Amino acid sequence: MERLRNLLSASELSREQIRFLLSTAVKMAPQVRDGDTIPLLQGKTIVNLFFENSTRTRTSFELATRKLGAGTLNFAASTSSTSKGETLIDTAKNIEAMRPHAIVVRHASAGSPQTLAGSIGVPVINAGDGFHEHPTQGLLDVFTIEEKLGSVEGKRVVILGDIAHSRVARSNIHILRKLGASVAVCAPPTLLPPHPETLGVDFAYRPESLLGDADVVMALRIQLERQNRMQIPSIAEYSKFWGLNQERAKLLKKGAIILHPGPINRGVELDPEVADGPHSVILDQVFNGVIIRMAVLAAICAPDALQSWLQKGSNS
Ligand code: CP
Repeated sequence: MERLRNLLSASELSREQIRFLLSTAVKMAPQVRDGDTIPLLQGKTIVNLFFENSTRTRTSFELATRKLGAGTLNFAASTSSTSKGETLIDTAKNIEAMRPHAIVVRHASAGSPQTLAGSIGVPVINAGDGFHEHPTQGLLDVFTIEEKLGSVEGKRVVILGDIAHSRVARSNIHILRKLGASVAVCAPPTLLPPHPETLGVDFAYRPESLLGDADVVMALRIQLERQNRMQIPSIAEYSKFWGLNQERAKLLKKGAIILHPGPINRGVELDPEVADGPHSVILDQVFNGVIIRMAVLAAICAPDALQSWLQKGSNS
């Protein structure tokens, strides 16, 4: 298997690399659940370079870093010199000069992690770039599906919401298809990308025809921050025709699970009773985000230490 030097997109990950990261996370999970650390990154420093808001991704990268024994430095874009005109590349080069061991970046521009990886010498991990990709979210979603339902191979996954502007949908589609899941996307026509069939998925404009066969429904928020103007008539109409409410949740199979990457707009894409109901695994996704990010950081920043930890039976 080719060694992971950066994590820029799920599209670049091989099936073997995805399986390695998922199985590493499975092995780390018991110790993390017990509150133990796995100090594979002692003496290292990871910088979180977030130019967009985040609750789950930034804090779980920070926790993952600490649980691996490394130091973490959070870069607050709003109080940095980017407000004085410094470019993303200059900012990253200045942070690189302080000798961190990896930079985790979130930015509104699609492709910015790739640009950084070509400009600096330290590993770059994409924590979400515009509407392009959010690879660790895709990994933690698939980890959660396999934790709840066993192998994702052959499972029917319905992604419901603003597919056109969603980096989460894009990363999930790449990973789910590589692992053999059957994927369908559903949204009003204006919130689907042009020619959705080119994504290698089925698609429908209304959810009712898809929900009965779904093993997994992934609900997505409307990404208003990435739309020049609202592309649906109203939020109320979206909620009425596409929201996952209690009536629509009754169409689901008994064991089907509901995912949402967060933040949830309750009463829009997901009713509160459904978000907190028996099908929901949303808070499990949040916990699994820590484990997946530990696996990614260890694989990139300490591959040899990780290999010997895995070979020793993951007991040390
Ligand atoms: N899922 C996700 O990316 O959430 P945050 O924006 O809170 O990081």
